Order: sequence, then C-alpha cells, then structure tokens
Amino acid sequence: MIVTIDGPAGAGKSSVARKLADSLGFAFLDTGAMYRCVTLQCLERGVDLNDAGRVVEIARQCEIEFRDKGVFANGVDVTDAIRDVAVSSSIKLIADNTEVRELMVKAQQMWAIGKDAVTEGRDQGTVVFPAAECKIFLTASAEERAARRCRQLHAMNKEADYEAILAAQRERDHHDTSRPVGGLVAATDATHVNTDCLSEEQVLDRLIAIVRSKQEVPNSVERSNPYPNDLSKQGEPEVGNGVA
Ligand code: DC
Repeated sequence: MIVTIDGPAGAGKSSVARKLADSLGFAFLDTGAMYRCVTLQCLERGVDLNDAGRVVEIARQCEIEFRDKGVFANGVDVTDAIRDVAVSSSIKLIADNTEVRELMVKAQQMWAIGKDAVTEGRDQGTVVFPAAECKIFLTASAEERAARRCRQLHAMNKEADYEAILAAQRERDHHDTSRPVGGLVAATDATHVNTDCLSEEQVLDRLIAIVRSKQEVPNSVERSNPYPNDLSKQGEPEVGNGVA
C-alpha cells in the first residue's frame, strides 16, 4: 500500500509522516530531501542555479540513498547539510526545474515498487502516485505554522520574529502552489487533515485511523501496478539517478 502525504511547509508533515511509517511498519520516503540533495550538490560544485541544463546534469549524476534515518548523496552523509539555510533559500530554482522534477518523480516511483510505503512531499498524491490507495493532505493555517516555528526557535534559544516568519511562510506557500509542474495542490481524492488545534500525537492517531480505514476497503488497482500514468515507459533507473 502507498500512503501519500502532501501539504505546505511547516504543517508538520515530515515528523508525523515518519512516525506514521514507523507505526505501520512501512518504508518512508522524504521527497523534499531529494530536491535538497540536488540543491546541495549544485551549491558545492559552484553551479549557476539559473543554468537549467547544468542543474539537470547534476541531478542525473546524483545518487540518493536513504540509510536508516540518514540521507546520502553520492555516498556522502548529507543528513544535516541538506537542512542548511543556504539550501533552503536556493531550492526553488531546483524544484521549479521541470526536467529535474521528471527525474525525481521517476526515481520516487521506482523506489516504491513492491513496497508498502509512506511518501511525503508536495506532488505525491497528484503526480507521483496518482493511484495511491491512501492520500492525505495535511494543512495548518499560515498563522499556526508561523507560531509553531517561533516556538521551535525559542526552544533553541534563538530569536524569532513572528511577522517576518509569517511573511516568509506566505511567500513559500505562494511559490509552492504556483509552480507550473508539480505545484502543491490536494488530490481530489485526498483526505484533508487540518492540524491547527491538534497535538502531534493526535495527528498521528488520526492518520493511522485514516490508513486503517483504507486498508479495510478492497482496492481495485492491482498491487503490482499502482502507477497507471507512465510506468510502461519506465525502465531501470539510469545510472547516477537512482534512489535507494
Ligand atoms: O519538504 P521540504 O521543506 O524538505 O521541501 C524542500 C523543497 O522542495 C520545498 O521548497 C518544496 C520542494 N519539494 C517539491 O517541490 N516537491 C516535493 N515532492 C517535495 C519538496
């Protein structure tokens, strides 16, 4: 079974998606980490991020692996490096690149073959796994997400300007939703969960209940072919563009 979790930045997707996967005994795919790996590789090699063709070359050569809870790019542990502010502030040029997206989508579909998995991102229920058995769209208001970010920063003894964080949040939302390919949008058959007044534990309980309810419904889609869109066109992942 494939469970997709999409939603805006700061809605708490990553942490709850990982916990959901652990609770279900499913594999977990953090697709944002993949775009982050490509961004980091570009920055490390001094690639002009506006040079779309060169960025695609880097993406093609980027072998991404998820080992335990760590992320490796071309054999190097980049788990922390991909969370760097420099990566976050440059990533839109990579995530907006249509060819990079095609490579990532293909790698994500290949990774999922034969797996029970929770995948998390922006386009999982719409573009990557349109026939997923369970789709969740996780949201929270921009105000709540900004307030949570402030609390996280305060907990780390860092300064937090609520208005600035809220403005940045709105800007990111606008960018994520207006991306022409793979833009953030809820799949029509996704179950919406608003986390505004819920603790992480409550969100997790709700998600588990949603997955369980879908597991009880017999699915007409063949387990071995949940990607009706274009899997027939897909061969083995190209060298240097796999995700393991
Ligand atoms: O979820 P995240 O913050 O780690 O994602 C990093 C960036 O990657 C974010 O700006 C949106 C983009 N992204 C995307 O375009 N498609 C995905 N499936 C996942 C992330």
